[in-house]
Amino acid sequence: MPPSLPPSRRGFLLLALLLPACLAAPGGAGGDAAAMQALRRELAPPGWGPGADHCAWRGVTCAAGSGGAVTAIDLPRRGLRGDFAAAAALPALARLDLSANSLRGAVPAALGALPRFEFLDLSMNALAGPVPAALAGASALRFLNLSDNALSGAIPDELRGLRGLQELQLSGNNLTGALPGWLAGLPALRVLSAYENSLSGPIPPGLGLSSELQVLNLHSNALEGAIPGSLFQLGTLQVLVLTLNRLNGTIPDAIGRCRGLSNVRIGDNRLSGAIPPSIGDAASLTYFEANTNDLSGGIPAQLARCANLTLLNLAYNRLAGEVPDVLGELWNLQELIVSGNGLGGEFPKSILRCRNLSKLDLSYNSFHGDLPENICNGSRMQFLFLDHNEFSGAIPRGIGGCTRLLALQLGSNNLGGQIPAEIGKVKSLQIALNLSFNHFVGTLPRELGRLDKLVTLDLSSNEISGQIPGDMRGMLSLIEVNLSNNRLSGAIPAFGPFQKSAASSFSGNAKLCGDPLDVDCGSIYGSNYGMDHRKISYRVALAVVGSCVLIFSLVSLVVALFMWRERQEKEVEAKKAEAEEVVVAAPQVVASTVFIESLQQAIDFQSCVKATYKDANELSNGTFSTTYKAVMPSGMVVCVKKLKSVDRAVIHHQTKMIRELERLAHINHKNLVRPIGYVIYDDCALLLHHHMPNGTLLQLLHNDCNTDSEKQKPDWPRLLSIAIDVAEGLAFLHQVATIHLDISSGNVHLDSHYNALLGEVEISKLLDPSKGTASISAVAGSFGYIPPEYAYTMQVTVPGNVYSYGVVLLEILTSKLPVEEEFGEGVDLVKWVHTAPARGETPEQIMDPRLSTVSFAWRRQMLAVLKVAMLCTERTPAKRPRMKKVVEMLQEAKNS
Ligand SMILES: *[C@@H]1O[C@H](CO)[C@@H](O)[C@H](O)[C@H]1NC(C)=O
Ligand SMILES: *[C@@H]1O[C@H](CO)[C@@H](O)[C@H](O)[C@H]1NC(C)=O
Ligand SMILES: *[C@@H]1O[C@H](CO)[C@@H](O)[C@H](O)[C@H]1NC(C)=O
Ligand SMILES: *[C@@H]1O[C@H](CO)[C@@H](O)[C@H](O)[C@H]1NC(C)=O
Ligand SMILES: *[C@@H]1O[C@H](CO)[C@@H](O)[C@H](O)[C@H]1NC(C)=O
Ligand SMILES: *[C@@H]1O[C@H](CO)[C@@H](O)[C@H](O)[C@H]1NC(C)=O
Ligand SMILES: *[C@@H]1O[C@H](CO)[C@@H](O)[C@H](O)[C@H]1NC(C)=O
Ligand SMILES: *[C@@H]1O[C@H](CO)[C@@H](O)[C@H](O)[C@H]1NC(C)=O
Repeated sequence: MPPSLPPSRRGFLLLALLLPACLAAPGGAGGDAAAMQALRRELAPPGWGPGADHCAWRGVTCAAGSGGAVTAIDLPRRGLRGDFAAAAALPALARLDLSANSLRGAVPAALGALPRFEFLDLSMNALAGPVPAALAGASALRFLNLSDNALSGAIPDELRGLRGLQELQLSGNNLTGALPGWLAGLPALRVLSAYENSLSGPIPPGLGLSSELQVLNLHSNALEGAIPGSLFQLGTLQVLVLTLNRLNGTIPDAIGRCRGLSNVRIGDNRLSGAIPPSIGDAASLTYFEANTNDLSGGIPAQLARCANLTLLNLAYNRLAGEVPDVLGELWNLQELIVSGNGLGGEFPKSILRCRNLSKLDLSYNSFHGDLPENICNGSRMQFLFLDHNEFSGAIPRGIGGCTRLLALQLGSNNLGGQIPAEIGKVKSLQIALNLSFNHFVGTLPRELGRLDKLVTLDLSSNEISGQIPGDMRGMLSLIEVNLSNNRLSGAIPAFGPFQKSAASSFSGNAKLCGDPLDVDCGSIYGSNYGMDHRKISYRVALAVVGSCVLIFSLVSLVVALFMWRERQEKEVEAKKAEAEEVVVAAPQVVASTVFIESLQQAIDFQSCVKATYKDANELSNGTFSTTYKAVMPSGMVVCVKKLKSVDRAVIHHQTKMIRELERLAHINHKNLVRPIGYVIYDDCALLLHHHMPNGTLLQLLHNDCNTDSEKQKPDWPRLLSIAIDVAEGLAFLHQVATIHLDISSGNVHLDSHYNALLGEVEISKLLDPSKGTASISAVAGSFGYIPPEYAYTMQVTVPGNVYSYGVVLLEILTSKLPVEEEFGEGVDLVKWVHTAPARGETPEQIMDPRLSTVSFAWRRQMLAVLKVAMLCTERTPAKRPRMKKVVEMLQEAKNS
């Protein structure tokens, strides 16, 4: 209809449209028109109208040839509020999806009067009151989703009439009372999810006998009684989550009937008895988490038959015996957690054959004997918790092979001998090194000083003697130190973290003196004590640093090349996978949200998903994601970022991930890209951002002169302000204790005013291993930006970020890419710049002459920035400035 029609004519047309429909289906579609108008008035959904033909409205489906009988309304995530009870006056309605809106009030009981109603999704709203018993009238209902609302009261008994229910989702409400017994009698029930409520009483006996139950998720309630064996009887169960209840009794033997069971989470209950050996028949098992129960007996060797097992958490039970040797066959095992049991025997060496093991927690048991020489066996081990056992002997020298270790807990054992110098090779140590309450003797190895990322060092309550080596001043990240209750002597070296400690960190060493102890060294050793001692240790430190630099450069080159190749292969694979997806039918969106209310109407999630199917929409391709441009039906342009390395864990930890995203959406800094929403479907996660019309810094620096003649060379002041923007964004991130995982010019986005915003911030949160979302060990950043120490540590750190930022600065100054052929084989931009003096080249020959020759002022500023860039790209992490300092230096350069 032409928009310019005068109102009177429009009214006439409307009447003309409606009349035949009324005549064709009296009382049917005519009634629908009235109900639809009422809904439109109440909810005002976008895309409803201006036409009067409600069948043409967005999200509305009518039956063919029915003259306007509405069969489905799909309006998820439209920011809707208001009364939708008028939907109950649509007699042909089979499907109503109003999920993720802002609906309040009660669930309209009248919906129960719809004879053809099959699908009702009101999840993620703010609906309150009870689940209406009248819904029982909708006897055709198969899918009912009321999760994530504020519903209260009991699940009404009347709903027993809904015999056709296939999926019932009630999680995240305030429901009380027991799960009704009739749930067990529903013949088609496949999914029952009612987690995070206040449900009590037993799991209905017989549940799983009448239907092929696949998913049962009831965690975080107050359920009592036993896990019914009936759940496993038909063998169809795939996911069982009962964590955080009060369930008792044993794990049913029948669990082994479920060949497709991948997830079992039954931790934090009161389960007792043995883990049944039949568990080995559940061959698909990926996660088995039964911690904090009262389980007894041994760890069944049959678990070794679950070849896909990734996580085995049996902590805090009453398990006894040894860790079965055969568990070493679990190639996919990433975490073995058995702390707080009565396990014993020698260190389970066979476990070291699990090449993917990143966490081994044997703490609080009774393991004894020596630690194996190859304690890490070149593996991916990040967390090794062996404290509170009876291990004896020395720390094996092989500890130096633990190249990815983040935390080592060996406290409260019977370990002895000298602390091996090889400990200094574990440069990755970051969280803690705790050797307290053992019998270590001899002197402290000065190699401890190489652990420049270590935050907590506890060597207390041993028999360590000699002086505290001055080299320990190399531990630049140290915050907490405890050397108390040893036999140390001499002066405590002058080193911030030492002097800032409590006296109790050094007490109990009879011959130790100086700050923070209240003991004057003069009183013990005379006034000249300690002078020569220091000079020597500086020289040693210099020699150590020198050789480290050499080794770093060799190793980093090899690793960088290797990782580059691996990445190339992965990209090809990813492309293939994406191409295949095009044929796949419409994806099933698992969850999605727009964080910013004013944008909720403008964003359509299906359009976001579909945009990623077309290569033509691709904007850029980064380490962790590919970015697409998506044009919404509303006309808005959105950046859609598809995460690559999303493993199943991310999807599994969806809730955490979503929370993290929501938190990030609230981190407000003008130089950080904020997520505006997300879509999770199948195995994919899409993050939505504002579209940045001026592309990335990479494009600005390197793509400009090819085609677009009107786009002139960027000027220096603009580049300098971009550099400062990025530095400020990064400094802010570090201030909130976040490390960026992929700093590169391709991740610096430019808005319409050429303000720079650092992107991919969320990646560091989504992949953070401590958040349990994924393993970080494969993460390095982009080729050419990877700090050299990464070769050793496999860990991205604050100084590592500074290095990558320094590379971006060099790119800006030189207009060259981080890796270019002209630098020569094995030479990257950093090395090319740092070796310029040796080649007899002046800064002029390094900096882009199109910028540096424009004016003396520009040249002076560029030279100052070059100095900053050189500092940032120092090989030794400790020599690099903090980002806060970098911002100051750049601002100084700008004002010079
Ligand atoms: C609600 O549950 C239904 C049926 O189980 C499901 O199809 C739908 O995807 C769920 N809605 C959301 C937003 O997860
Ligand atoms: C659930 O009920 C408790 C008290 O009964 C109340 O404090 C809480 O706010 C309710 N939660 C919701 C989501 O309504
Ligand atoms: C389980 O708990 C119920 C009460 O919640 C109790 O009656 C029953 O005896 C307990 N069973 C076992 C095996 O402890
Ligand atoms: C293990 O996982 C792989 C990949 O997900 C799957 O193809 C395979 O069937 C699984 N094995 C078992 C026994 O379930
Ligand atoms: C160490 O790892 C290798 C594979 O790299 C394996 O063959 C060997 O059995 C492992 N050694 C021990 C003691 O587990
Ligand atoms: C486990 O390690 C093997 C190689 O040892 C690798 O191919 C596989 O992808 C790893 N699995 C996981 C889940 O990391
Ligand atoms: C080190 O381990 C001991 C137990 O062996 C523990 O008591 C102590 O708190 C730990 N130290 C730190 C700093 O966490
Ligand atoms: C250091 O460890 C001892 C136990 O060995 C403990 O009593 C003391 O409180 C600890 N000091 C600090 C500062 O943690």
